[in-house]
Amino acid sequence: MEPNNQENVKKEEEEQVVTPWEVASKGKIDYDKLIDQFGCQRLDPTLIQRVERLTSRPAHVFLRRGVFFAHREFNGILDAYEKGEKFYLYTGRGPSSEALHLGHLIPFMFTKYLQDAFKVPLVIQLTDDEKCLWKNLPVEETQRLARENAKDIIACGFDITRTFIFSDFDYVGGAFYKNMIKVAKCITFNQVHGIFGFTPEDHIGKISFPPVQAVPSFPSSFPHLFTGKDNLRCLIPCAIDQDPYFRMTRDVAPRIGYQKPALIESSFFPALQGDTGKMSASDPNSAIYVTDSAKDIKNKINRYAFSGGRDSVEEHRLRGANLEVDIPFKYLTFFLDDDTELEHIKQEYGSGRMLTGEIKKCLTEVLTQLVERHCKARAAVTDAMVDAFMAVRPLPNMFH
Ligand code: TYM
Repeated sequence: MEPNNQENVKKEEEEQVVTPWEVASKGKIDYDKLIDQFGCQRLDPTLIQRVERLTSRPAHVFLRRGVFFAHREFNGILDAYEKGEKFYLYTGRGPSSEALHLGHLIPFMFTKYLQDAFKVPLVIQLTDDEKCLWKNLPVEETQRLARENAKDIIACGFDITRTFIFSDFDYVGGAFYKNMIKVAKCITFNQVHGIFGFTPEDHIGKISFPPVQAVPSFPSSFPHLFTGKDNLRCLIPCAIDQDPYFRMTRDVAPRIGYQKPALIESSFFPALQGDTGKMSASDPNSAIYVTDSAKDIKNKINRYAFSGGRDSVEEHRLRGANLEVDIPFKYLTFFLDDDTELEHIKQEYGSGRMLTGEIKKCLTEVLTQLVERHCKARAAVTDAMVDAFMAVRPLPNMFH
């Protein structure tokens, strides 16, 4: 196993839990601790500068602001790219709900930027099988949700000449399935118990699922795309909750003769109520969905967004807002692109000259615009487009 000190994990478990299915913490999530526990690296400014240099474009706002903050061997991807070797991107979505929330958009917005900046192919896995196993949804329902979610993903602007979207129920088989079995043979029940916390009471569907999410990391799982390119490297953008899957994948890869995938990992877009978990689709009042109306967005922000503002206007003017815990400010760091404007808000609100109502108004405008733009793009996605993105086909100019 890669560095993952089990004893530390146990001790920290009581303080904060981060798995693909649960993110909870007594206080603010401690991302430094998470990096230590999981054994990944911090994304330092020199790597971000390298990205800017290699792509000849400014770093994405999620890189500049530290939203993507951790990685595994991203430097290796950049080394190879510098020598003229390309790579491919792999990300995914578990279709458990009709609508995505803003947290889900983060890896997709970032992946779109990576695809444009590096001009590389992308595979997107829709784990309809995973959500059928975990959420107790019927097969047909998760298949339907996968297609609905694909529309939101396509609306993020992916290039159809470089992107293959697939659902597990439709695509698993052939070379992909052979890789799943190769991976499965390398993992014992004790290991998945250690990595994912599975217990003997869990049904075997859960226990046998991890290879399904592992193998898109290997180019040979996609013969229609990467035949003859067995050494093509893979980069996975995701939030850090997915790390356990890929810790396992990286551990197994060399044992079956494959390259380890690299990762670039984000922190969580927090729930409206505060920074102790991730925005979750299962609690409607904790999340802003891409389907929310302008009125919903305004109401949710005004009613639920945890404020670092002080109890009275006098105290607020005197002490300023506590930006460390303030959700409207945190949300703006994700979605307000303009660095100068963000700095201005930081100064004004942090010193008490700006009031909570004002920053909430500003956030409402930013998010309403974002959601309206997304809805417009989604409305333009037809069923025929979904079929086209999901067709098993070569992508002839994927590296150009
Ligand atoms: P899912 O559907 O839970 O989440 C989809 C993607 O969104 C990220 N994410 C978030 N990012 C920031 N803030 C949040 N609050 C937040 N909530 C979710 C997730 O990390 C993920 O990147 N099992 C996966 C599907 C999957 C996948 C993959 C994801 C299959 N293969 C490869 C990433 C990479 C899932 O259920 O994701």
